[in-house]
Amino acid sequence: MPTESNPQDQADDLRDALVAELVRQGAIRNSAVRDTFATVPRHLFVPQADLATAYGDQPVFIRWDAETPISSSTQPTMMAIMIEQLCLEPGNRVLEIGAGSGYNAAIMAHIVGDTGNVVTVDIDQDIVDEAAANLSQTGFHNVTCVCGDGFEGVPTKQPYDRIIVTVGAYDVSPHWVNQLKDGGILVVPLWFRGANLSVALRKQGSEITGLSASPCTFIPIRGIWQRTEGYYPVGDPPDEALQMAIALDSDDAAYRRELGQVFNQSAELREIGRSLDGQYYTQNIYSGLFMFLTAHPDVYNVYSSSESGPFQGAGYGLIDLDTMSAAVLSDHYPDKALVYGNDVAYEQLLDLLEQWDELGHPAIHNLSIRALYEAPGALSEGEWTIAKRSIYTWVMSWRAATATSCSPRSLS
Ligand SMILES: C[S@@+](CC[C@H](N)C(=O)[O-])C[C@H]1O[C@@H](n2cnc3c(N)ncnc32)[C@H](O)[C@@H]1O
Repeated sequence: MPTESNPQDQADDLRDALVAELVRQGAIRNSAVRDTFATVPRHLFVPQADLATAYGDQPVFIRWDAETPISSSTQPTMMAIMIEQLCLEPGNRVLEIGAGSGYNAAIMAHIVGDTGNVVTVDIDQDIVDEAAANLSQTGFHNVTCVCGDGFEGVPTKQPYDRIIVTVGAYDVSPHWVNQLKDGGILVVPLWFRGANLSVALRKQGSEITGLSASPCTFIPIRGIWQRTEGYYPVGDPPDEALQMAIALDSDDAAYRRELGQVFNQSAELREIGRSLDGQYYTQNIYSGLFMFLTAHPDVYNVYSSSESGPFQGAGYGLIDLDTMSAAVLSDHYPDKALVYGNDVAYEQLLDLLEQWDELGHPAIHNLSIRALYEAPGALSEGEWTIAKRSIYTWVMSWRAATATSCSPRSLS
């Protein structure tokens, strides 16, 4: 007669299955990371979840503000990708911004071992207390939990070999750069007008240089650097007939009003000389086209919920306010653009698609990112300024395919 396995065996089996899936997806590339995920018991950090949920590849939310989640144990795939980006070594001193359940800190503490340590900071004392209790109960004594605004880092424990930010940030805090050792790596999720990217950066002198980037989704940061980036309605007041929203760093009513005028013109469908079926954000976030378009300063992620409007769902709009023209690619029309006003934006969009062809359809790992502290001088050909934030200006360009930032140890 089959016997029911005990909860410990069930947890071990589910954890092994999750690790196998993370390896299969390519999220785990390094045997030390694999062995660590196979060892650290996630279910003990998220006791509110049943075993299947704790070992499902999903975030487990642990705090809400009304309906909005404000703390979680991050989705394991995303954790693995970011830890791979961080290139942890035994003996590293690590700072984590956003303690959450403490599970990610435990994973890092296991990799850096007894000769290293992890400091994790969270903005809420009750979350810090819970993370500290989880870490103590599971025997991770090389982690220090601190309450504070992670924007300021934890100066009393600096310098760090690695800093990982596990909450969506507006920019790189100067405190993180100051507290990182020269040659150290910082991994941080940043929002670029509709694209959330986990960006790995290396500190070299006073510069930080992009090493790798991966799509991600994160709860936004609270505290000193809380921001209002997101999707804002087009039109001022919001245009009820259009029901269109656009991804912006912050609300800008004058800009939204102008956009309303552009998109209130009649739209015409025009051929784009190709079919982009399957290349869109909604269908394939890892597609290079999503990032290629988002990284261009004149292209905005747009969304329409109108049932009677010219398009429904997600799209990319190349907008030229000087000529009051726009050209939108949407899931609805894989081989056409919706053209508003005149041909100027449409022609620019065709040029952009041609550039994408010439570059051989680069994917996310071909994206090169620079963070400039000083005002940028002349940019190189092919470089675009995608965001000017309060500390850094973010510049992107595309390059030929290269391996990841550090060579992963092969899986044994
Ligand atoms: C996605 S959760 C953390 C995930 C965690 N590292 C894990 O996987 O177990 C993000 C955390 O960041 C915290 N947080 C938000 N803003 C913060 C800030 N300014 N400083 C420190 N922590 C912050 C939240 O309270 C939340 O616990």
